[in-house]
Amino acid sequence: MTKDEFYKLLESRTSIRKYKSDEIPKETLQRILNAAMQAPSGKNRQNWHFFVVQGEKRQQYLKLSQKSWLGIKDVLQKKLKPSLYEFTERFFFTLGDAPVIIFCFSENSPEERHYTSIGSVYMAVENLNLACLVEGLGCCTMGAPLEIQEDVRTFLGVDSQNKDLELLCAVTVGVPDHQPPKAPRQTEGRITWLK
Ligand SMILES: Cc1cc2nc3c(=O)[nH]c(=O)nc-3n(C[C@H](O)[C@H](O)[C@H](O)COP(=O)(O)O)c2cc1C
Repeated sequence: MTKDEFYKLLESRTSIRKYKSDEIPKETLQRILNAAMQAPSGKNRQNWHFFVVQGEKRQQYLKLSQKSWLGIKDVLQKKLKPSLYEFTERFFFTLGDAPVIIFCFSENSPEERHYTSIGSVYMAVENLNLACLVEGLGCCTMGAPLEIQEDVRTFLGVDSQNKDLELLCAVTVGVPDHQPPKAPRQTEGRITWLK
């Protein structure tokens, strides 16, 4: 891959919220997860944990996703145009028919700063986003499951007493069934150069 191709690839990434029903082969998912785990991490703790949800289990999760919508809908109604609000509501109800949902957790430790631990997992989540791109897949990172953390933990069978294992996000994955426009980027004033 050339330098130009790499930067173009980064620019081409958009969150995908509508998927074809195609199943994703396990080998592909394994490659994506391996790419995630190439990320750097504080003290090289590699403190990520992924729960890959598919099939009937994914179907069951949709009921919980609908519940998370109730926690977020009032804020979004004030913020979004009606058409985008409706699209977002549908996404919460169906998760865009994504065949795969990957829940991402951070294993925290008193020996590491909290932000360093969770930041390390988000580095892995970005790798995961980019690996989806090169596989011709789409994905959407979602903080929405945090609205229903306890339900998600029970759903995944994560011990509720294990407070060191923290849910950070879910990532829907599948073959894209739409091509959303690039969300504008604001780069003005975001960089301070010092010499
Ligand atoms: C940590 C994080 C949480 C997010 N949570 C949600 C979410 O709950 N639902 C959703 O539809 N998109 C979610 N997104 C996607 C953002 O809305 C999206 O990245 C942003 O609008 C920029 O669009 P782009 O990804 O297409 O460039 C999240 C993204 C990140 C990084």
